[in-house]
Amino acid sequence: MIKNTLLSAIDAGAAQLRRYFNGSFTISSKSSINDLVTEADHAAEKAIFKIIQDKHPSHFILSEETGSIPSSSTTKWIIDPIDGTINFANGIPICCVSIGVEENGEMIMGAVYNPFMNELFFAEKGKGATLNEKPIKVSDKDNLLTSCLVTGFPYQYLDAANGPLTVFEKLIRKSIPVRRLGSAALDLCWTAAGRFDGFYEHKLQAWDSAAGYLIVQEAGGTVTDLNGEKYNPYQPGIIASNGKIHDQLLSLMKGGSL
Ligand code: IPD
Ligand code: CA
Ligand code: CA
Repeated sequence: MIKNTLLSAIDAGAAQLRRYFNGSFTISSKSSINDLVTEADHAAEKAIFKIIQDKHPSHFILSEETGSIPSSSTTKWIIDPIDGTINFANGIPICCVSIGVEENGEMIMGAVYNPFMNELFFAEKGKGATLNEKPIKVSDKDNLLTSCLVTGFPYQYLDAANGPLTVFEKLIRKSIPVRRLGSAALDLCWTAAGRFDGFYEHKLQAWDSAAGYLIVQEAGGTVTDLNGEKYNPYQPGIIASNGKIHDQLLSLMKGGSL
């Protein structure tokens, strides 16, 4: 039942991304000039809410553009109607709908769909991860120096100690490829699929990572916070990897050298 609702909600959101992509839509700024929200974000969120609230009117919802719709239910839907809004607004087809489902504080299911590449990533706790219904697993590279990484940069805190610029500089000075897709949810899913060996970011919100971190774990990867502790999407930092390079990446993020 939850899975059907999740996949219907993902489809309903994605239909709005397709509808507006490369067309005309309003764009406004939120916390800063480049923190954008488009008409498509709102339309996708509305379409997703309709599906979830029709099927499960009592469930808790946390969604980027609306915030919390609290309830006493133990089931919480964590929604990013468009992850990669700047890409979307520029006609770059690297963006997605991301929805995670939490039960009693544990992520139990997640789906991330990029309609422009027709890639649906899905995971259910304890049942593995899939891409378009085929099982996926993380890479098996074990040396950070030969890894392909991905990250994102926040709008603030760039210069903090061991912050985004310091870590990035250390990596690129060792000529380690570090990509920047512009969608944390896809960064996680592409790590789950073995396209990247690891992903880190200093400042995410729960809706950026809720579905993707479960997908990495279910693909056999490791996800922690920046101290190497059990990951919790309600705090900002994340390291997600194939597991084999995790300690090397963690040590670097904590101020170590390469
Ligand atoms: C953003 C993307 C980006 C990450 C930002 C997020 P949005 O989400 O996930 O990759 O670096 O921190 O805010 O705004 O496109 O939903
Ligand atoms: Ca996001
Ligand atoms: Ca978003």
